[in-house]
Amino acid sequence: MKTEILRPDSPGISGAADLLRAGQLVAFPTETVYGLGADARNDRAVARIFEAKDRPRFNPLIVHVSGMNTAQEIAVFGEAAERLAAAFWPGPLTLVLPLKSGTGISPLVSAGLDTIAIRIPAHPLAHELLAQFDGPIAAPSANPSGKISPTTADHVLSGLNGRIAAILDGGPCKVGLESTIIGFDPEPTLLRPGGLPVEAIEHCLGQPLAEPTHSKTPTAPGQLASHYAPNAAIRLNVNSANPDETLLGFGPVDCDLNLSTGGDLVEAAAKLFNALRELDAQGVKKIAVSPISDHGLGRAINDRLKRAAAPRL
Ligand code: TXA
Ligand code: MG
Repeated sequence: MKTEILRPDSPGISGAADLLRAGQLVAFPTETVYGLGADARNDRAVARIFEAKDRPRFNPLIVHVSGMNTAQEIAVFGEAAERLAAAFWPGPLTLVLPLKSGTGISPLVSAGLDTIAIRIPAHPLAHELLAQFDGPIAAPSANPSGKISPTTADHVLSGLNGRIAAILDGGPCKVGLESTIIGFDPEPTLLRPGGLPVEAIEHCLGQPLAEPTHSKTPTAPGQLASHYAPNAAIRLNVNSANPDETLLGFGPVDCDLNLSTGGDLVEAAAKLFNALRELDAQGVKKIAVSPISDHGLGRAINDRLKRAAAPRL
């Protein structure tokens, strides 16, 4: 794949929006760092983010929206969240809020959690792109997993050249540091320090931010202890399921539900959370899962399944 550099003009912006509509990945500038954008409602497009970044885990992503109306269609705002949004959006602040149902947001964006990280970015190009695309854009920082967040189009290119469709070049990012992330637990809690100073947030709320309890701290990307886990018990690397198990297949196997009959890891990642929820909804008690190759997105899929298979405390 050739990574196209798009200029920050109207053909560039509409080109970027078209690529997003086609399920492609486009890096774009925000005031904090460059984001690696995908249509947040397209499972496959979101799966490609993890593939392009070579992320070994499905940690939840931030969804970017153009305005408060869209934000409120996706997430439930309490009083404190509303106050912070009114004071600091658009800007370098991300709020983790209860996810509404039926929004069409891919469960890969929230890693199957019932909360969603959401923000309205302040960068004019990000704003234009969101307006033209006319929908929510899921975007982690546009760097390969484990590398530093990019603040120029060149940084993005050096990490992701050939792995993404395009980069919308908006020059250097002003803030240069990721957004500050606040959760509501229910007390306003600092989940990640970032581009918006904690003091400004505390001043706005008129109270200090709570320290996150250990289990809810994303100590490293994707290290959240609270992950979506299905009710069913899960057994991995199974070639033939026991009679009391439902086989979640991968590749050309005879099974009840298949993540990808063709053995396509992007397709499997895109279907994973939907499949687990589907089996839960069916009331399945025991899930057996076909072996899934442990490379590329397969590592993230296996990581997620291992967590789901781990004994519950
Ligand atoms: O400035 C930024 O925030 C940039 C730009 C592109 O917006 N984005 C960014 O995304 O830094 P990312 O994926 O690199 O970091 C998102 C962080 C992760 O540490 C993730 O664990 C946390 O947000 N997060 C996302 N959803 C969450 C949720 N539902 N609960 C708790 N943490 C969440
Ligand atoms: Mg990052």
